[in-house]
Amino acid sequence: MTSPIRFLMCSPHHYDVDYVINPWMEGNVHRSSKQRAQEQWQNLYQIIASRAAVDLVKPQPGWPDMVFTANAGLILGDQVVLSRFLHPERQGEEPFFKQWFEAQGNTVYTLPADLPFEGAGDALLDREGRWLWAGYGFRTELDSHALVAQWLNVEVLSLHLMDERFYHLDTCFCPLTGGYLLYYPPAFDAYSNRLIELRVPAEKRIPIDEPDAINFACNAVNIDRTVIMNQASDDLKGRLAAVGFEVVETPLTEFLKAGGAAKCLTLRVTEPVHPEPTGESGILARTVTMTGHLLDAGLVNRALDLIVEGGGSFQVLKFDLGEQRQSTSTAEIRVSAPGQEVMDEIMAQLIDLGAVVLPEEQQDARLVTITQAGVAPDDFYSSTIYPTEVRVQGQWIRVQAQRMDGVIVVDQGPQGPRAICKLLRDLQVGDQVIVGYDGIRSVRSTTSRDRSQQEEFSFMGSGVSSERRVELIVEQVAWELRRLRDRGGKVAVVAGPVVIHTGGGEHLSRLIRQGYVQALLGGNAIAVHDIEQALLGTSLGVDMKQGTSVRGGHRHHLRAINTIRRCGSIANAVEQGVLTRGVLYECVKNNVPFSLAGSIRDDGPLPDTKMDLIQAQADYARLIEGCDMILMLSTMLHAIGVGNMTPSGVKMVCVDINPAVVTKLADRGSLESTGVVTDVGLFLSLLVKQLDKLTQKHVMA
Ligand code: ARG
Repeated sequence: MTSPIRFLMCSPHHYDVDYVINPWMEGNVHRSSKQRAQEQWQNLYQIIASRAAVDLVKPQPGWPDMVFTANAGLILGDQVVLSRFLHPERQGEEPFFKQWFEAQGNTVYTLPADLPFEGAGDALLDREGRWLWAGYGFRTELDSHALVAQWLNVEVLSLHLMDERFYHLDTCFCPLTGGYLLYYPPAFDAYSNRLIELRVPAEKRIPIDEPDAINFACNAVNIDRTVIMNQASDDLKGRLAAVGFEVVETPLTEFLKAGGAAKCLTLRVTEPVHPEPTGESGILARTVTMTGHLLDAGLVNRALDLIVEGGGSFQVLKFDLGEQRQSTSTAEIRVSAPGQEVMDEIMAQLIDLGAVVLPEEQQDARLVTITQAGVAPDDFYSSTIYPTEVRVQGQWIRVQAQRMDGVIVVDQGPQGPRAICKLLRDLQVGDQVIVGYDGIRSVRSTTSRDRSQQEEFSFMGSGVSSERRVELIVEQVAWELRRLRDRGGKVAVVAGPVVIHTGGGEHLSRLIRQGYVQALLGGNAIAVHDIEQALLGTSLGVDMKQGTSVRGGHRHHLRAINTIRRCGSIANAVEQGVLTRGVLYECVKNNVPFSLAGSIRDDGPLPDTKMDLIQAQADYARLIEGCDMILMLSTMLHAIGVGNMTPSGVKMVCVDINPAVVTKLADRGSLESTGVVTDVGLFLSLLVKQLDKLTQKHVMA
């Protein structure tokens, strides 16, 4: 037979279910019949051989899954990406497949170790050769798609597999001649389904139901208008017939026991190389470059993830992996999207990740004039904590007052253009704000962030107990505080009332007295409890020395509020000799500015508490300006509020007994925060002790 279409198969001579690496194999170890497997395979071979050429690779003892040649690698023209199996049970097949591919005169690419990719089992070419559908989630790592895309010079559409039973893309997805697609939608996450729907028009999609799916109907070999599979329902056969496909059924039950069927047992080795890789098809493309510790910092993964989730696809034009661990890598990624909206969304997020548009594609930032005060156009660019530059009249300028969730306003005054982050509510009619993603780049210093993350990981990885971990962080924070004080740096403390309840008040007071704190931010409560303790010795009615409730103590905090109200302000109370100790007392005495932001649950409030939240936010922002470090002590609300207004580069230490608060702060973008899950009173006492130690050393030296 001299058909131009060729397949690779491998006789089941050594086939058996020897181990369990997918759910189908469970309960089937050594339960398949050798003879029946041989017969079923032979039948499949005949059916294919009568329609195409079949090459054979020699089966190897000890590698029972080698029959599944779909997993040998992915071939396009004479370029092959060899599989890197996830499971050691199959890794021994790699050299045999490699040998075979090379013997045929192909160029074979091998992925870095630990970057699994399971060949044509997880990568299926569109039958028109327009792009490659690639699966990930179980056997194949998303990062591998970037390398496959580069080596084979093909656009990749990554699909996220969700159902363990359909662990390889070819178990639930089968592109057919003429742009048709046979697939099982529930095997994919919502984003992947959207991507499929964006690329394959409804009349070409043939979704199947679970009964067909578990009979491996998608695991089919398609040769022209013939579809060869284990079994199909009448309904499915009818639907396929209606669009011109003939189904040939051939039982493969013995192979189903290992989680494979017709398609898995074959590898199509003649895949058409499409002359124009990206084609026209109304698809938009933009190219970005990324530089940094791309793999280490997980940046490539995040970039691809967001392209995929956004409904786009990518091609990797260049990928220079850093030679050494410390050296950075560079990737040039071409992003494709089926429409402008999808593209805009993806680009905006890539830019936030630090991706830069190619110089020749760069444009000035798009500006729109505000016509309603406090309201931006829908497509305004929302700012991040990262240093950002915008292109105005061909020049890149640095954005001032960088913060998260702001709008960038460009002011083209006589001194040249200026860009500044403003809050939505501060926009004025006539302001020019940036929309879209053109002419915006954000600078990610991967090093600082990663170093702190790595330190975190090394703490956790090296068997350090959580107590020791707290001590280590305290040592670092103390050292940092000391250095900052010596060089006139600025430290802000954001504190919640728990600081007082846990006995941390005296330690915080000391930090303030000794000049380690340059601003204090909190709510009404911390001040009320601190003052209650100073005046009456209790915190929310609990005696701070005995740890027991005091009779009538529930009124104490109101008495404290009342006393300060009588004086007119906290500062007045200090001046009049009414308030003689405590955190707020130290602030007043040492000229450390403080800001108390009110809330709906506040009693009183104290005369100093700002119940106008817009004013309070502005006050907070003023106090943290120019900060080097922010200590966040047991207050979720105020800590997150501060996190939002703080640009990157400011060290944040968040202490809370509730791990959720610590993670929440790390999650929501302020990656530079170090989290410490511990009692805040304990943390402060350790911190003060450590600072004392440093001072003694200093004195001795
Ligand atoms: N037992 C094999 C495995 O789990 C089956 C491979 C099926 N191949 C495929 N392309 N889906 O790896």
